[in-house]
Amino acid sequence: MTAGEKIVVSKFRHFYATADGPVQATEAIDLAIRAGEFVTLVGPSGCGKTTLLKAIAGFLRPTEGTITCDGKPVREPGRDRGVVFQEFAILPWRTVGRNISHGLEIARVPREKRETIVARLIELTGLAGFEQRYPHELSGGMRQRVAVARTWAADPDVILMDEPFAAVDAMTRLTLQEELARLTAATKKTVFFITHSVDEAVFLGDRVLVMTRRPGKIKAVIEVPGRASGRDWESFKLDAGMQGIAEKVLRLVREERGAAAPSTSDAQRAETIGSQQAAGDSLPPEGRGMRGHPVAHVRDGDPG
Ligand SMILES: Nc1ncnc2c1ncn2[C@@H]1O[C@H](COP(=O)(O)OP(=O)(O)OP(=O)(O)O)[C@@H](O)[C@H]1O
Ligand SMILES: [Mg+2]
Repeated sequence: MTAGEKIVVSKFRHFYATADGPVQATEAIDLAIRAGEFVTLVGPSGCGKTTLLKAIAGFLRPTEGTITCDGKPVREPGRDRGVVFQEFAILPWRTVGRNISHGLEIARVPREKRETIVARLIELTGLAGFEQRYPHELSGGMRQRVAVARTWAADPDVILMDEPFAAVDAMTRLTLQEELARLTAATKKTVFFITHSVDEAVFLGDRVLVMTRRPGKIKAVIEVPGRASGRDWESFKLDAGMQGIAEKVLRLVREERGAAAPSTSDAQRAETIGSQQAAGDSLPPEGRGMRGHPVAHVRDGDPG
């Protein structure tokens, strides 16, 4: 491990055991994420993105290779690594405030300190006035903010996010992305973020990783300069440098998809990869029992 490296993935390969024999999810993956860095990952559906994230989270034991966090081998989930999944991992019977404080209650953080942390996160995520509401009284975008705030509340060094905004509408998504950019800058977290949107990956990331189709490996690493100065969508769209990077990433992911398919067009060029083929994976412990129905993605084309 080099100084400043938070997460180090070394020669990671994963196979799932199935009734038809082993399924190779990933090729060998080597990856180092520096402390405070925001790394985004794009790649075709089924290429092994979630598999890699789950291994970093400690939900899944790698078939081969090692993963360390702060130099210590990852063997199980830990409080140093918070996870935000695509399915809203919030508790329907708890208010917004008590959802955010849930992890703190489990960790026996004193009430006063809990209240301070929750108040700050409510403010940062734009949920002021909704502390006493229940999840069913919120919009999808607000529920997703609660999920983000809940993960942040435990103050993990590392936040792992698996398509956290896939289920919200395009306009809400822009707001959530800007909020996330601000939140990560304000709290200096190390973030690993999976998405199907090229624009989202470039907008949020310090570095964008592109994976090949399954068994996935990292085929390109694209540096994105300038996140430190803050980002909003208007300036991102007007920035020729950023648009150039987005085009480059798009070309790289398209190669993996095979023949180019017609792209969808919406508020943010919702260039998406893969198909609606759902990965038949199991939920991590946190999400168990709260799984909704599969969330619809805007995805064009067929897998390669
Ligand atoms: N529990 C499992 N048992 C067997 N095979 C699995 C399991 N979970 C995932 N797979 C397979 O491993 C491969 C990688 O799955 P993974 O969920 O990591 O893909 P992904 O890149 O996250 O895809 P998506 O973009 O659709 O979420 C897929 O072919 C998937 O079918
Ligand atoms: Mg996935």
